[in-house]
Amino acid sequence: MPKHLVISTSGNPDSNSRRMGRAAFAHLQKKEVDCDWVDIREMDLPLCDAHKCYGMPGSKKLSAAIEHADGILIAAPVYNYDVAAATKNMIELTGSAWEDKIVGFLCAAGGHASYMSVMAYANSLMLDFRCVIIPRFAFATSHAFDGERINDKKINERIKQVADELVRFTKALRT
Ligand SMILES: Cc1cc2nc3c(=O)[nH]c(=O)nc-3n(C[C@H](O)[C@H](O)[C@H](O)COP(=O)(O)O)c2cc1C
Repeated sequence: MPKHLVISTSGNPDSNSRRMGRAAFAHLQKKEVDCDWVDIREMDLPLCDAHKCYGMPGSKKLSAAIEHADGILIAAPVYNYDVAAATKNMIELTGSAWEDKIVGFLCAAGGHASYMSVMAYANSLMLDFRCVIIPRFAFATSHAFDGERINDKKINERIKQVADELVRFTKALRT
């Protein structure tokens, strides 16, 4: 059976992308999909130095979680019209663990002008590691949130759609 993973990559304790990741994870759990949760904020990850970083416990644990999964949802903040450096650092630390994964995105941003910010990151996963990127993603600004709650019905639906698409693509490509 295919395995799934949701990774939260924001360093902010009050993160909206984490809320989106949590919503996707809860949806998958409700549907009894085999799915794990990882929050890189709790992993004490080093910055990639292309050297000792690979041997550090957090990097090894993260690589193992990614290798173990077939389909992965990345919940990411948008910083400077791209995904946050921490999200990029995650790929730099784990590299080939991403080979042939099916990947979807949940992005939190400040404004709609950054809608396509995830593309360079998606391209890198496709071209470096032959990942299949789900051609649907969820993108939300702070207007969709009320404290811990996601109070925008369309965003909630979109998150569930992305999670369902992850399962559909992963099943089709792994069985
Ligand atoms: C350093 C920094 C850069 C940001 N750059 C952008 C940006 O280019 N475009 C945008 O829409 N929002 C930008 N934002 C707003 C964040 O995307 C927004 O706060 C989002 O909620 C971050 O995700 P998180 O809550 O999961 O950490 C930036 C925020 C920070 C702190």
